Amino acid sequence: MKKFAFRNGDSIDAIGLGTWKSDPGEVGSAVKAALKVGYRHIDCAAIYGNEKEVGAALTESMKTNNIDRKELFITSKLWNTNHRKEDVLPALKQTLRDLQLEYLDLYLIHWPVAFRPDIDDFPQSDDDYLSLEDAPIFETWEAMLNAKNQGLIKHIGVSNFSAKKLSGLLTETDHAPEMNQVELHPYLQQDDLISYCKDNNILVTAYSPLGSSDRPKNMKKEDEPSLLENEVINSIAQKHDATPGQVLIKWAVERDTIVIPKSTNPGRIEENFKSREISLDQEDMNRIRQLDMHYRYLDGKAMETDGDMYKNIFDE
Ligand code: A2P
Repeated sequence: MKKFAFRNGDSIDAIGLGTWKSDPGEVGSAVKAALKVGYRHIDCAAIYGNEKEVGAALTESMKTNNIDRKELFITSKLWNTNHRKEDVLPALKQTLRDLQLEYLDLYLIHWPVAFRPDIDDFPQSDDDYLSLEDAPIFETWEAMLNAKNQGLIKHIGVSNFSAKKLSGLLTETDHAPEMNQVELHPYLQQDDLISYCKDNNILVTAYSPLGSSDRPKNMKKEDEPSLLENEVINSIAQKHDATPGQVLIKWAVERDTIVIPKSTNPGRIEENFKSREISLDQEDMNRIRQLDMHYRYLDGKAMETDGDMYKNIFDE
């Protein structure tokens, strides 16, 4: 398994299991199936609403498969309702309890947007947000750093941050994020953001690498292009006797990003892990490069305010 190194030399497996949209009742078996076939990297988040089941599966699988905690790499994310500096540690501790872990390998600020702590998951109006004056990202970041210094987290980073937002944070801290997790796939290649992260020693994780077609209806547009049905992806898959999913995953790894395909299907969980066995040549990479159309499956609109407080979240 290809690995990527953090600044202190710790490493993360290139392929992890995504758990967003993995329903309660299914996510535990998915985690168990993944660990059984060799995954050691699992990507979680409090807002996915399934961390308790993931935690139970991790504990059980570590016993059954004789896996040491140190072999695992577990990521979770701070939800937008917990950005005030005093709310970070309690949120992290809840996640640790749910996942039945003493520490996380990686904790990310999930979105560069703060919601009021008392709202139920998603805002209904602009009044449900906290402004950047009320909850400066820098203070959230300092609280993450504090949790790291307490040994509760090994690495800290962010998610859904544009280069502009990263650069804003970098001017305020000596401790740059170690990871930026963003939407990345052939239709949204984000070369500039990847270069920016590389130049600043920030690793990048690709989410929605397969197009996340299992998103809830209210997060989908009617005319979305399909990645898994794309002709070029399918012809490359045929050429290598592989599946379209494997091509998409291998492509992400080939361009030095970490990738977290989600599946709750044991066959596809194994198939995705085996994508490391195929190799894409330069011609394949060139053909896939042509597919970029700056298309976001997750346009971030659900996170934005009507007023100016949080507008144009991806700074495009
Ligand atoms: P399932 O969980 O039934 O396998 P993403 O990782 O981009 O969020 O995409 C997840 C979606 O892709 C889910 O609907 C998942 O369904 C499906 N999926 C996962 N792996 C594969 C694969 N190898 N081939 C086709 N679809 C896949």
